[in-house]
Amino acid sequence: MKIVTTIDELRGQLSGQLRTAFVPTMGNLHEGHLSLMRLASRHGDPVVASIFVNRLQFGPNEDFDKYPRTFEADCEKLAREGVYVLFAPDEKELYPEPQEYRVQPPHDLGDILEGHFRPGFFVGVSTVVLKLFSCVQPRAAVFGKKDYQQLMVIRNMCRQLALPTQIVAAETVRAEDGLALSSRNGYLSAAERAEAPQLLRMLNRVAERVRAGDGTVQSIEQDVMTEIGARGWKPDYISVRKRMNLRPPTEAEVQQGEPLVVLAAARLGATRLIDNLEI
Ligand code: PAJ
Repeated sequence: MKIVTTIDELRGQLSGQLRTAFVPTMGNLHEGHLSLMRLASRHGDPVVASIFVNRLQFGPNEDFDKYPRTFEADCEKLAREGVYVLFAPDEKELYPEPQEYRVQPPHDLGDILEGHFRPGFFVGVSTVVLKLFSCVQPRAAVFGKKDYQQLMVIRNMCRQLALPTQIVAAETVRAEDGLALSSRNGYLSAAERAEAPQLLRMLNRVAERVRAGDGTVQSIEQDVMTEIGARGWKPDYISVRKRMNLRPPTEAEVQQGEPLVVLAAARLGATRLIDNLEI
């Protein structure tokens, strides 16, 4: 595997490549990330990964400084997966001057759910992803459903800006007890780690009740928020949305079998976890 840190070197390595498959990450790689590398290899060749902890997408009180950085171990994992090039720029390389041109997702997608609780998050994500795409020029790029709204924001950005990159969705990889793998799981204490799979259990409860027509969507969301709150979590949202556009469904749409997804974000101690489940 070639490790390149500058845009020039990257372009040199990839010149003439027309079928590149790309997986952007922020490092601290786990099985979820590695499953994306494997999926990428089925959608193009060579596979290029990036590791860049993108300051633009972190709020002033978020964990940019303490975000886990495990570069050497990450390199070993990527090399084992057959990744051809790892692009690992430092901040000066990707943002040599203030990034004043930014991608603003539509408010009705970018400012809801995660975007509501993390203002500016999807501007930061969209901007860095567009810039990374401009560096790598991939034919396909893989994103995890774990970050469901992010996947949709990027997909819509590519469509509206006519980017020549196909966005491929990867299923969420979970630990045996159901907890979605995440770099932030490392922040959990042993007791919190034991409690953490409850988040998926709550999502399953919402899904079952919605399918069974056991109450209105709003009442189901409220019940489950209360329940998880009683276990000591601080939920930001547990919300049933239409898969198509992440807007709330009407009761008629729910009854007519509209494809839905339930998304959740909740704080357990100092750690904020997100997850989702298609209904
Ligand atoms: P990061 O959190 O490192 O995630 C990189 C990719 O891995 C994302 O597409 C994410 O959805 C996927 N991923 C994370 N955990 C997963 C799991 N358990 N199963 C499947 N896929 C999983 O998301 C980002 O970085 C950044 O926002 C980025 C897109 C790189 C832009 O900075």
